[in-house]
Amino acid sequence: MAFPGAFLDELTVKTDMIALVSQYTQPVRRGSRWFARCPFHSEKTPSFTVTPESGLFYCFGCQAGGGPIQFIMRAENLEFSDAVRYLAGRLGLAVPEDSGDLGLRVKRERLIEVNRLAARWFYERLGSEEGRLCAEYMRSRGMKPDMARRFGLGYAPDRWDGLLTAMAAAGVSADEMSVAGLVSRNQRGGLYDAFRDRLVFPIFDLRGQVVAFSGRALGDGMPKYKNSAESPVYQKRGLLYGAHIARKSEQPYWILAEGNVDVFMLHQAGFDNAVATCGTALTDTQARLAARHVKELTIAYDADAAGQNATQKAVTVLEAAGVRVRILHMRGAKDPDDFIRAYGPEGFAKLINDSQNHIEYRLSLLEARYPANSDAEKMEYLREATRLLAELPTRGEREIYSARVADTLGIDSKAVSKDVEAAGRKRGKAAEKAFEAQVIRPETRDRVTARKAAEEQALALLLRLPELETSLTAEDFETEEHRLLFENRFSPLSGETAALCAGLLTRYEEMPNALNALADCEKRIKNPRAKYANY
Ligand code: UTP
Ligand code: MN
Repeated sequence: MAFPGAFLDELTVKTDMIALVSQYTQPVRRGSRWFARCPFHSEKTPSFTVTPESGLFYCFGCQAGGGPIQFIMRAENLEFSDAVRYLAGRLGLAVPEDSGDLGLRVKRERLIEVNRLAARWFYERLGSEEGRLCAEYMRSRGMKPDMARRFGLGYAPDRWDGLLTAMAAAGVSADEMSVAGLVSRNQRGGLYDAFRDRLVFPIFDLRGQVVAFSGRALGDGMPKYKNSAESPVYQKRGLLYGAHIARKSEQPYWILAEGNVDVFMLHQAGFDNAVATCGTALTDTQARLAARHVKELTIAYDADAAGQNATQKAVTVLEAAGVRVRILHMRGAKDPDDFIRAYGPEGFAKLINDSQNHIEYRLSLLEARYPANSDAEKMEYLREATRLLAELPTRGEREIYSARVADTLGIDSKAVSKDVEAAGRKRGKAAEKAFEAQVIRPETRDRVTARKAAEEQALALLLRLPELETSLTAEDFETEEHRLLFENRFSPLSGETAALCAGLLTRYEEMPNALNALADCEKRIKNPRAKYANY
């Protein structure tokens, strides 16, 4: 949901940050800033600061920061658009979509209503004579009626106009059914039910409203799953199936599976923190959604090659969103549903306990690839493992895993450590070189050194958000004019320094995650080899 920038600005300016924050903690004034105990992490001494004039908050402890919208997103666990509505409601401001885009809003609400009606009808069908085979199918898969009710499961009967007729009787127009993706159109323009003879899973948004459906064929029918088309209320890249329940789970992490049935069976087995993507690779939006609710996530994708591939990709996306990742190593079953049926909830709980972090997982893949029968295989395994371990940030971790690799090979762990440290130093040097090398500046397409680009970006961030604390000092800047601007960033600027400042501000646009970006620049400027600082 895009809101006009002017509206968001108004919302930000009009919100009294001190009053807002006071709903969650007790800020105390100290100079131009207010300090409080952070509402987002537990602490004894206040490291949470608010600057009322700029409307910004920042916590030195957990690095949470931003404006009122970001604050409410975290404090109330809301999506961006819901946080905007929350703040607007507090101020009595009309949200632009309410007035300006009435058509779209009515449509959204109506679509939710239409989906709700359809879900109810499917649900009733499941309980009727017509749904007997579907209920039988569910029983055969161990899906219990209680849980089925909780997930609102239903049956789409084997008819072309079952839902059509029922919905028409309830006053739903053909257009509305069509936009909701519940009907398809044949070549002559006639409408027919999109879901036929399928076990139907309603797809819920975070608030628990039905926004779409996914239908599983009862047998070997093709396609195995049929999903609603995207609609104004359903974008599959932004939704995680089961998240409306998982967000209320007491577990501090989520389990990420591939399929609807997996989520269902996991919840039934007591894992109320399971979610799934709806038949697509995990997107950045979904990763950020997870990041807003949990710090850690355990990937429980299918055990096949496709699942492992998807796991690697998901790791990258999740780590970029700041979520710690653990990976389940499933043996003897194809997916969580299969596994639980074979080994029970206790078996799965054990898997969770044994779940590996990213490095362990990649090492175990390497071990499987090179069973170390021959010397050549051992060498290959050692070489790849060394490269992998060199990426670890701390010496302690590198030692631990070096020992494990040595153990696998039956060699002295000191030898492995030495190789790993050497590989790390090589990486560090390469990174340093890359840092001094020329890069193309994306903003202007001219060439600068990566170092200069980092200096520019840091300056732009500090100029835009003067409240940000930085560990940088003037001496850290290699470029003379940058040093000057840094020293004078709180004073009125003139001449060349002002021009440089204006240039930087136009070149580097506002960043949603300024705090992380600044931390990143600081690291790169202070130590080009920061990533490999321990070598
Ligand atoms: P899987 O083929 O792994 O199915 O697809 P599954 O979840 O294990 O289902 P069962 O146990 O055979 O019933 C994983 C997910 O990919 C999507 C669905 O969301 C499914 O849950 N998918 C799969 C589709 O969208 N269409 C398909 O034809 C198949
Ligand atoms: Mn399955």
